Amino acid sequence: MAAADASAERAALATLTIDLAAIAANYRMLAARAAPAECAGVVKADAYGLGVLQVAPALWQAGCRTFFAATLAEGVALRGLLPDAIIYVLAGLHGADPADFVAAGLRPLLVSRGEVDRWLAAAGDKIDARAGLHVDTGMARLGMPPDELDALISEGRQLKRLHPSLVMSHFACADTPGHPLNREQPQRFRDALARLALQRDVKRSLAASSGIFLGPDHAFDLVRPGAALYGIAPLVDQPNPLRQVVRLQAKILQVRRVDAGSTVGYGATHRFARQARLATVGVGYADGFMRALSNRGGAYIGDRRATIVGRVSMDLLTIDISDIPEEEAHPGSWVDVIGPHNPVDTVAAEAGTIGYEILTSLGRRYHRRYLDAGAAAAR
Ligand SMILES: Cc1ncc(COP(=O)(O)O)c(C=O)c1O
Repeated sequence: MAAADASAERAALATLTIDLAAIAANYRMLAARAAPAECAGVVKADAYGLGVLQVAPALWQAGCRTFFAATLAEGVALRGLLPDAIIYVLAGLHGADPADFVAAGLRPLLVSRGEVDRWLAAAGDKIDARAGLHVDTGMARLGMPPDELDALISEGRQLKRLHPSLVMSHFACADTPGHPLNREQPQRFRDALARLALQRDVKRSLAASSGIFLGPDHAFDLVRPGAALYGIAPLVDQPNPLRQVVRLQAKILQVRRVDAGSTVGYGATHRFARQARLATVGVGYADGFMRALSNRGGAYIGDRRATIVGRVSMDLLTIDISDIPEEEAHPGSWVDVIGPHNPVDTVAAEAGTIGYEILTSLGRRYHRRYLDAGAAAAR
């Protein structure tokens, strides 16, 4: 570790370790599972909070060639990192200037006839300007609704001029294999594709992370995982086949003994039934460690769990270390707030949310350490 990095780590209250080799391994596993479909990478929201600057090149090195950003700004930043990648923008044109997409070689996923018109007016005759088409098959969020799709198809000329490079739709319930929408959406997608009568070079895409695990019929030509790349379990209540990517270690700042009957933290929400030993740890809700984990979550010291007692505050939380030997929990020692025993999905369940929200909430104050996939350095 470089001297500056070591000193930044010493000065931080918590260290976030992001394993780029695990992201690369997850990419290869998902790609093998989806083959012969192509496996793209979704790197929106700063690669789900993990750092697009490091994650995107690591995915490129792992063999990923098609990427999805959420917005024009994210796409432009990604283009700066990956000059040769195919980059789609999930939010469509979202009121931005089509010329800006063309200039950066980005492909908007057009969501309406209005967007198709605007794109064709601005980019229709440019040889290297390509766009995708997002059709809605049941998510009812983004994408062309059935009546607009019918109009586009019956009018014909616009569609021919557009010649999309990708037609995509998005599953609503893919993490729950038994849900009826997992049968209905592929059927609606096939119907839409048949009516669009696409040329052979147009790619078709329906599945994100969870859809890859629904079976080979759902992969079409291209899959678009995000969460699974970053270690989030693709299916509810099933073992997670992916490698963990994130470890969050926070420093113990102070240790104290408290008497039976005393309380801890804002609102005095936890009262000790016996004498206890407490550790104050340097992570709080300003770092994205949610206040909902007050009196619920836990941290690990080695393989021993210490429960969070009292409320999580802005920069700090407190854990009960009464059962942990003093030499293992003292000021300056580290605890796993997210780690091998309490992975992202577990922390999310304890907080009453999903792993996606835990990752994308991860704070900016952590010392970030990237375990190398040969592509990136610590920032
Ligand atoms: C349209 C679309 N495709 C793909 C993804 C990636 O999904 P996941 O992170 O579940 O793999 C998302 C994420 O929200 C999305 O909105």
